[in-house]
Amino acid sequence: MNTSEIVNKAWRKGIAIPGFNIPYLPMMAPVIEALRDTNSFGLVMVARLEWKKFESKSLEAISAEYQKLKDENHTRLHLDHIPVIDEDGIRVDFEENISRALDNGYESVMIDGSRLSLNENIECTRNIVEIAEKYNVPVEAELGAVMGHESGRMPSYDELFESKKGFTSPDDARRFVEESGTDWLSVAIGNVHGAISVAGKQEKKLEAKIDIEHLAKINKLAGVPLVLHGGTGIRRKYILESIKHGIAKINVATAIRQPYENALPRGVDVAQEAVYRAMLDLIKDELLIENSKDILFGEE
Ligand code: 13P
Repeated sequence: MNTSEIVNKAWRKGIAIPGFNIPYLPMMAPVIEALRDTNSFGLVMVARLEWKKFESKSLEAISAEYQKLKDENHTRLHLDHIPVIDEDGIRVDFEENISRALDNGYESVMIDGSRLSLNENIECTRNIVEIAEKYNVPVEAELGAVMGHESGRMPSYDELFESKKGFTSPDDARRFVEESGTDWLSVAIGNVHGAISVAGKQEKKLEAKIDIEHLAKINKLAGVPLVLHGGTGIRRKYILESIKHGIAKINVATAIRQPYENALPRGVDVAQEAVYRAMLDLIKDELLIENSKDILFGEE
């Protein structure tokens, strides 16, 4: 099964496919090991900011490591956030990055035009959909503002949540999916990314809420699997409710990065063990996806 079929099946069956970010290459082994040991399924992924600001080196280095460690019963390789305009306001050659990923065996890719106007976001995404189609690879796009990656103080979370500032508009979501042809849509519904700035990256991530009513409205109109970024620290009841309303893929970074970084002074082995333990907690207690591989790869 390719990643498109797997995510579509998860969407129909009400199971989450987690995507785990790899900001340091040695994190990949315990991520895959934990997925295999719990008979679950997940995506191994890297975002541009992780080779720019962390130590995953490059999309090629991640792909090479993945080819060594992969287990096709439990994993696929995904390219996370390639922004058109990055978290520092710099314009990125997103086409070049994504084309290189497609040539390097990535099995799904994300174009992030969320800092653009609706029309520009549609245009950039459609462009990537046309390129990825030639590789038979699904595309994820983002609409709305999932905050947290920018440096500087975030506005008050409660105010953001109450005002729905930056939330994905359900009507825009319908138009966006129709006109861009994206396979999956990342939405802003109260979720925020864990901080990655030097000042904020070690801070405990805030407990984000999800506006389930708002998500339900998007889900009615979008018609494609929806993606929840900022998976760290969202309470389980929100995660489980959101899966009932169209969320099929959940991105998780901070919950495995911080244990790795905190344990690293005691050695890479100790840090890998910390990632493995964090993965077991996520799989068994937060996302409840133990044995999801059997459902995803089993009979309809
Ligand atoms: P967290 O760091 O909050 O888990 O978010 C991860 C993410 O959404 C990466 O795309």
